[in-house]
Amino acid sequence: MGEQIVWFNGEVIPMSEAHVGVEDRGFQFADGVYEVVRFYNGRPFTLREHMQRLQRSADGLKLRLPMSVADIGDEIVKFIPRTGIREGSVYLQATRGISPRNHKFPENSSSTLLFYAKHLPPVNEPGQGEGVKLLAVEDDRWRRCWIKCIGLIGHVLAKNEALSKGFDEAAFVEGEIVSECATSNIFAVLGGKLITHPVGSRVLPGITRLVVLECAASLKVPVEERPLREEEVRRADELFISSTTREIAWVARWNERYIGQGKCGPITTKLHRAVRERVRRETTGPIPSADAA
Ligand code: PDD
Repeated sequence: MGEQIVWFNGEVIPMSEAHVGVEDRGFQFADGVYEVVRFYNGRPFTLREHMQRLQRSADGLKLRLPMSVADIGDEIVKFIPRTGIREGSVYLQATRGISPRNHKFPENSSSTLLFYAKHLPPVNEPGQGEGVKLLAVEDDRWRRCWIKCIGLIGHVLAKNEALSKGFDEAAFVEGEIVSECATSNIFAVLGGKLITHPVGSRVLPGITRLVVLECAASLKVPVEERPLREEEVRRADELFISSTTREIAWVARWNERYIGQGKCGPITTKLHRAVRERVRRETTGPIPSADAA
């Protein structure tokens, strides 16, 4: 396979030729937003939902995107076949672009928009694989978590604290409340009910979270969207996290405590099967050809 390519301000160029300026506001202020979209069989999954969230995130930063999110979505669909990758994710980033460093928004900045793809190995079959180990960390992030902002240092520090202590993922806790994880949303199953924190100031509106909630509704699993207490998490029957790259991953440990029966629980397995079925429905069929681009 040749060199990795990147869609960069409207052109598709080799990664080594794509350069972002020193005074790009993304670099200097983390003044930008991003998305991660999974594709299966060369076809993006829930692209429209990701593009809608991109628009909301951009609006949240008062950032004008250089083209409509519908057009960005079309560009992503055309780009994927050109990468030669069938199973992977697209990382997209939009910043307020280059202008002399100043906190004040520039009058006429040129935004920077880029995206590229990478291969991802298939995720575990529902109910299979090792459980995730979660470490609880203090939630000291800003309170606009609904914006998928590239300013991720709070997430990065939390994730690395978890990894350095032998855990897989960090879960944010403020007082007694468990909001979400460094790179995923979190769900608990208690007495047959699915509980997850509402989206908003402390929780990203995860697209996988949305798909899980839709699957729960169609499977008639009762759902409560409300703050989840750490004490509930510790005694949960089942615990799982969700994200674009993981789909659903069952949680085996919360700090030093083992969750459930040391294996993936039945409701988690059922929900993951339903998510997988939706992926299959929406991404099978012929691979869009690069020639059609
Ligand atoms: N992370 N919460 C946070 C803080 C996240 O960073 C993510 C995703 C999620 C799950 O959202 P979704 O289901 O839309 O992927 C929740 C992406 C994958 C990342 O930063 O790489």
